[in-house]
Amino acid sequence: MNENNKKKLKLKVSAIKDGTVIDHIPAKNLFKVITILGLDKIDNQITFGTNLDSKKLGAKAIIKVSDLFFEDNEINKIALIAPHAKLNIIRDYEVVEKKIVATPEKIVGIVKCFNPKCITNNEKITTCFKVISKEPIALKCKYCEKITSDDEIVML
Ligand code: CTP
Ligand code: ZN
Repeated sequence: MNENNKKKLKLKVSAIKDGTVIDHIPAKNLFKVITILGLDKIDNQITFGTNLDSKKLGAKAIIKVSDLFFEDNEINKIALIAPHAKLNIIRDYEVVEKKIVATPEKIVGIVKCFNPKCITNNEKITTCFKVISKEPIALKCKYCEKITSDDEIVML
């Protein structure tokens, strides 16, 4: 199949004029990405597709948000649950920039400590973790030193 036909086949979710396309989201984390980025609380047009085929991820999801452009620190929040996400910045139907998500070395706030006895779960203290593994994610709490791993991650 030639490149053009491949492109057409790939366009299962229609193109947007201006905005951000977040591609290569693991399908199981689509709704987490939506809440972390606050996409459930805005009026912009949003389209998404999920359980699309991906060689890398098995099943991927894609989100297209019109007229919205993210700051790097906002986008890096999804690194925990979509480490291979790719952002495409669209202006007048053209992809003008591509960005990848970077997993920060340190996560401040965002995630809840897995340990119910941790001081951050009992007092008004902002959580803080050192990223000890990026894939799968493992976070070491600065306060109680317990490890919160990938499937235990709960966003604040
Ligand atoms: N896209 C879109 N609206 C546009 C232009 C592009 O929704 N006006 C989407 C495409 O559907 C695709 C993504 O933005 O999901 C990136 O577009 P493009 O770079 O053309 O696709 P690829 O070459 O497949 O990108 P990559 O291989 O980097 O994922
Ligand atoms: Zn803790």
